[in-house]
Amino acid sequence: MAKNTTVSVINADVGSCPGHVAPEKGMIELFEKHIESEGLKKGLIEDFRVYNCGDDIGVVMSHFRGKDDEKIHHLAWDGFVKAADYAKKLKLYGAGQDLLKDAFSGNVKGMGPGVAEMEFVERKSDPVLVFACDKTDPAAFSLPLYKAFADPFNTAGLVIDPKAAVGFSFDVMNIYENTVVRMKCPDEIYSMLALIGSTGKYAVKNVFINGNLPETESICATVCTEKLSLIAGQYVGKDDPVAICRAQSGFPAVGEILEAFALGHTVAGWMRGSHRGPLMPVSFEDATPTRFDGPPRIIGLGFQVGNGKLVGPVDLFKDPSFNITRERCMKVAEYLRAHGPFEPHRLGEDEMEYTTLPKVLEKLKPRMKKLV
Ligand code: F6R
Ligand code: MG
Ligand code: MG
Repeated sequence: MAKNTTVSVINADVGSCPGHVAPEKGMIELFEKHIESEGLKKGLIEDFRVYNCGDDIGVVMSHFRGKDDEKIHHLAWDGFVKAADYAKKLKLYGAGQDLLKDAFSGNVKGMGPGVAEMEFVERKSDPVLVFACDKTDPAAFSLPLYKAFADPFNTAGLVIDPKAAVGFSFDVMNIYENTVVRMKCPDEIYSMLALIGSTGKYAVKNVFINGNLPETESICATVCTEKLSLIAGQYVGKDDPVAICRAQSGFPAVGEILEAFALGHTVAGWMRGSHRGPLMPVSFEDATPTRFDGPPRIIGLGFQVGNGKLVGPVDLFKDPSFNITRERCMKVAEYLRAHGPFEPHRLGEDEMEYTTLPKVLEKLKPRMKKLV
């Protein structure tokens, strides 16, 4: 039996400078050294790359230990603890923010960090794309994943390539109820859109190619759907979803997956996790959101995964052909900003539930008189 490769992406915001802009260089170095000495050199992982997007540090690890492996999660957790301790000493902002628990307890899920993992049988050649966002929530991936895997106007392969024409199935998650439904496309496109169009409630979790292949061969995409506000009971700044996509040879091409981000679609997040704004695809270098703590950003890391090793990353959104998307995003940002505290720039009241807004509204309650 072929040995499965697992790609694990784990990220956290454990402190930044200034405010919520970017982690300090020393934190990233410390984290990187930890993964190298405790993970790579000890043979736990085959390879890794550390990156940062906005105020978050993330690591892409390849290994043969499968998903939800305690040792892999512990490795990342300990690295974040070290980076957080360093950030605390420097009094960096939000130091230790995403480490909700004092001690590691088997899996980073529910403990603060974000995690997306994919276990698969390596194909003859396996292009793997990792996407990391800052200042938005997991539903930011729903529109581009729909476009890449279900929209023939985006993905030519759905029309031209008989391997892709079998279509793809989506796991759609109800973020509040922690339930999931598998929807087969193209058959169920309309009803799936009825769900995922409600980005405040539903998010795409996984995508598989249709057919009878086992999950380790059919898995195409997976998204980190952790919403920390639901775990912590309040908005604690977790706004940095990650996703992994496999491309080519019957799956959408790299360019078809990237094309799905060319709109610069509107997402929730931005300032105080409370505003809608465009998701701007940027180069690694430009992943430092400062205007009104944003606008929301996404970077793309392009890898080839072979025999458990990572080749790359290529900076996928550095391409100047995304300049037009970035310009549109800034025009949309300018327009939305002009609305100030009004919807649709500010999120609706239901989505503000976990922010500090309810405290403000609570104070006004006693003054509300019945209108006669
Ligand atoms: C956090 C974030 C920021 C903060 C904002 C207020 O990831 O996106 O927009 O929500 O800067 O932060 P506090 O409340 O820490 O002053
Ligand atoms: Mg933050
Ligand atoms: Mg962040």
